[in-house]
Amino acid sequence: MIRLIPGQLINYSKLIIHQVYCLQRRQVAKFSGQTYTELIKENTLETRDHLTPEISLRLITPRSRLWTAREHQLPFPDPFWAFYWPGGQILTRYLLDHPSVVNGKCIVDIGSGCGASAIAAKISGASKVTANDTDKVAVEAIALNAEINQVDLNTSTENLIGKCQDEWDVVLLGDMFYDDNFADVIGSWVPELSERGKTILIGDPGRYSFERHPLKNNLCRIYKHKLPENCLKENNGMTHGFVWKYCPRE
Ligand SMILES: C[S@@+](CC[C@H](N)C(=O)[O-])C[C@H]1O[C@@H](n2cnc3c(N)ncnc32)[C@H](O)[C@@H]1O
Repeated sequence: MIRLIPGQLINYSKLIIHQVYCLQRRQVAKFSGQTYTELIKENTLETRDHLTPEISLRLITPRSRLWTAREHQLPFPDPFWAFYWPGGQILTRYLLDHPSVVNGKCIVDIGSGCGASAIAAKISGASKVTANDTDKVAVEAIALNAEINQVDLNTSTENLIGKCQDEWDVVLLGDMFYDDNFADVIGSWVPELSERGKTILIGDPGRYSFERHPLKNNLCRIYKHKLPENCLKENNGMTHGFVWKYCPRE
């Protein structure tokens, strides 16, 4: 049985097994006949039981039938978007509590997942928000969640990591340091973004791949918040989430 809860991914050995497993089953054809939107609606529940109850999200929760599903029962290849990751929760809380950070600005949320941080940016007055996730099911889920919360977002499945668009003011990275290789890719991209004048905000609950990364030397911690109870249960050993801003030392 595989439970695709974020907590499983904290254990590095399990993460490797999980990633290999996901690579082996990158097909969804057996559930053909239904659109992704229909599948998402059928297999998720709307919930506000997280750190940002202002935002309602369709997620796989303990009350969902997929919470304890076996792998062959999963209609989606790798539904990271169906969970609200602690790093995303903390970043979203920060944006809702500090709207001036995004108000009137153009925002891109990389690895948007369920879209919560992007939705928060829009609620907080951002002029334009792009929720970016390379998983095409994720962007369908984001569109549904945006509709539930009555905000207009742009979505994109392009791999934007390594790229930079002039219009971006703020780049959001919620819980994107979940594995060493990926952390290295993002870690070398962040300074390039900063050189192009972008503000980079990172939400993270103290993951190993983040804490060990040299990028940390050039980050300032700007926010700390206790994680909610259900998040603590799913993310064994983590107690708080943090928001970091890239502030290169002279
Ligand atoms: C750990 S989840 C975080 C989701 C969300 N930010 C949150 O905190 O709840 C990572 C997300 O990154 C997405 N992702 C992975 N590689 C990506 C890439 N190159 N560009 C954009 N998104 C990517 C995954 O599909 C997944 O939804």
